[in-house]
Amino acid sequence: MQLSITRADQLKPHPKDADLHFGDVFTDHMFSMDYDREKGWHDPRIEPYASIAMDPATMVLHYGQAIFEGLKAFRNVSGGVQMFRPQDNFKRLNRSARRLCIPEIDEAFSLDALKQLLTIDQDWVPSAPGTALYIRPTIIAMDPFLGVRASNTYRYYIILGPVGAYYAEGFNPVKIMVAKGYVRAVRGGLGEAKAGANYAASLYAGTMAYAEGYSQVLWLDGVHQKYIDEVGSMNIFFVIDDELITPKLNGSILPGITRDSVLRLGKKWGMNVSERELSLDEVFEAHASGKLQEVFGAGTAAVISPVGELKYGDDVITIGDGNVGPISQKLYDAITDIQYGKTEDPDGWIVEV
Ligand SMILES: Cc1ncc(COP(=O)(O)O)c(C=O)c1O
Repeated sequence: MQLSITRADQLKPHPKDADLHFGDVFTDHMFSMDYDREKGWHDPRIEPYASIAMDPATMVLHYGQAIFEGLKAFRNVSGGVQMFRPQDNFKRLNRSARRLCIPEIDEAFSLDALKQLLTIDQDWVPSAPGTALYIRPTIIAMDPFLGVRASNTYRYYIILGPVGAYYAEGFNPVKIMVAKGYVRAVRGGLGEAKAGANYAASLYAGTMAYAEGYSQVLWLDGVHQKYIDEVGSMNIFFVIDDELITPKLNGSILPGITRDSVLRLGKKWGMNVSERELSLDEVFEAHASGKLQEVFGAGTAAVISPVGELKYGDDVITIGDGNVGPISQKLYDAITDIQYGKTEDPDGWIVEV
């Protein structure tokens, strides 16, 4: 397939690195590609960033047949641009595609197209510490049709935007509220896919948590509402009595790439690492007996996000002394050092652009 390239006539002004937030500024170009039954995926192109015109009946707007990915490109210490485990994101995009009845994309072609897009918009990759260029591959159902079925046509696009810290708190501990009475996903549902619908399901409890000063929701399993699943946009880890624990993938949890990186590093460092069922009761009991050492989220946006406080109903616990724990700090440093090219990349996680 031949990738066509049309450059923007007018380039946008770049924000200063110090003014970057998350997800509100986009670069000059985007990648797009279309699918229909006859041609399959076709017409791959890089064009100026622009709106997508849609019939009001377009299926994605009604039934949410949409999937996406999130990864980052970093300005490395030598001034070059590099990505962290992008192949895993395209692999996960295809897993989500299968679950949502969306035709799979060619992963190698996607990576190559993304590299070309990044080369064109490389001046947008910020360089201040903690900043990056966020990459958002997305696939949406495009049939103008109101019957409920899988669409026959799709649009696949990739947009880019420079980002700063995901949380206003930066690397400082965040406060998390455990959802009570609401669930994000159930086993057999969409939880393990990166589908927009999961995020729509999370908004109500998220809004309630935010109103009480909590930055995200920790979801319990959809069946017993007892076992810990994950946070709104991160997988969750606990250090209890020197055991590094994350809930095992059970169908309702997104298999995070940062999660996998943390597990691999933990094992490499000789830690006692477990992927297992973990009840909220066990966490509260560990806190009561002084064995709960650290809690942190792991995800592309914040990499490692220490949790300083957990609230469930009227019960509120402070984790450790409320400061960043040593394991959270060590993992954050190890992963970000690889991402920014400050250290070797022994596991082949980096793809240079
Ligand atoms: C629901 C959810 N869980 C976990 C993650 C972490 O996944 P990753 O480490 O691949 O970013 C994300 C963010 O991407 C997410 O949205």
